[in-house]
Amino acid sequence: MKGIILAGGSGTRLKPLTGVVSKQILPVYNKPMIYYPLSVLMLAGIRDILLISAPGHLDMFRRLLGDGSSLGVRIDYAEQKEPNGIAEAFLLGADHIGDDQVALILGDNVFHGYKFSDLLRRTVEQLDGCALFGYPVQDPWRYGIAELDADRRLVGLAEKPGEPRSNIAVTGLYMYDNDVVRMAQGLVPSERGELEITDINRIYLEQGRAHLAELGRGFVWLDMGTHDSLLEAGQYVQILEQRQGVRIGCVEEVAYRKGFIDAEECRLLAHEQAGEYGDYLLDLVGADRVPSRRNHAEPFATPTGAGPR
Ligand code: DAU
Repeated sequence: MKGIILAGGSGTRLKPLTGVVSKQILPVYNKPMIYYPLSVLMLAGIRDILLISAPGHLDMFRRLLGDGSSLGVRIDYAEQKEPNGIAEAFLLGADHIGDDQVALILGDNVFHGYKFSDLLRRTVEQLDGCALFGYPVQDPWRYGIAELDADRRLVGLAEKPGEPRSNIAVTGLYMYDNDVVRMAQGLVPSERGELEITDINRIYLEQGRAHLAELGRGFVWLDMGTHDSLLEAGQYVQILEQRQGVRIGCVEEVAYRKGFIDAEECRLLAHEQAGEYGDYLLDLVGADRVPSRRNHAEPFATPTGAGPR
C-alpha cells in the first residue's frame, strides 16, 4: 500500500503563525506537526510516501525529511497549486499510486490510542474498497459525518451537514483500493469548488464497499485548524509524554520499532537531536549515555516478525 500525506492549504485560520511557514511544520509540543501523520502511515507499515504541499512550502518539508531514507522509508514530493480539495491528492498522486492501494492522511491530524497499530495493520490486510475511521465529536457540523444504522453499519455520509444525522466524524485517515484514482478522475467539484473526499467515500458506500472502524472511548483524534486546537494538541502530547515517559509521533522510534532502521541507524539519528529527544532514542536502543531514570513503556504492539532488529 502507498501513502499520501496532504499538507497543503494556506493555513488561513492560523495566521499570523502561517505567514511564512507551512501549517504542517508548526510545532506540536516537541515535534513538527507533520511527524504525527507520518508516524501513522509508518505504523501502518507503509514505506512509500508522497507528501503533497502548497507552492513555496515543499522545500521546508524536503529540508526536514529529505528522501526519507534515514527513516527507512521513501518520501517523494508533489505540489498542489491551489487547495482544490482533498480528493485532488489522488490526481496529483496517480503515478505514485500506480496500481497499488493507497492510504491518505491529512497533515494536520493526530491519532493516538491503545492498539492503534494493530487496528491499522488489520485494516490494511483486510481492505475491501474503502476504510474510514469514525470518531465522536461535539460539533458534527464541522466535519464529514457518518450515518450508522442500529447495528452500527455505515449507511450514509455527509460533508459538514446542517442537520447532522450522528455525531460520528469521519477522520482524516482514509484507505482505498486502486479504484480511487479512476473515481477521482471522474469527480465533479462541489459548490465550494473542491474535489470532495466525501464524494469519493459516497461512491464506495453506494457500491457497498465503504467500511467504518469506530475509534472508541479512550482514543484521541485531534485536528489542528485553529490556535486553540493547535495549543490543545500540544498540551495533550506534553501531558501524555511527561506522564508515561513515551513519545507520540516520534518517527525515529516508529522506524526502529517497525524494523525499518536498525539500532545503529537509530543511534545516529539520536545524535542529530539535542537534549531529551535524542536521549529518548538512545535509551530506546540501549546506547551508552548517562543512565536515565525514565521508564519507557512499550507504546506499540510489535507485529510478529516486524519488530526491532
Ligand atoms: O479532519 C477531518 C475532516 O477533514 C473530515 O471530517 C472532512 O470530511 C474533510 O472534508 C476535512 O474537513 P476540513 O474542514 O478539516 O477540511 P479542510 O479544508 O480544513 O482541509 C483539511 C486539511 O487538508 C488542511 O490541513 C488543509 C489540507 N488541504 C485541504 C484542501 C481542501 C490541502 O492540503 N489541500 C486541499 O485542497
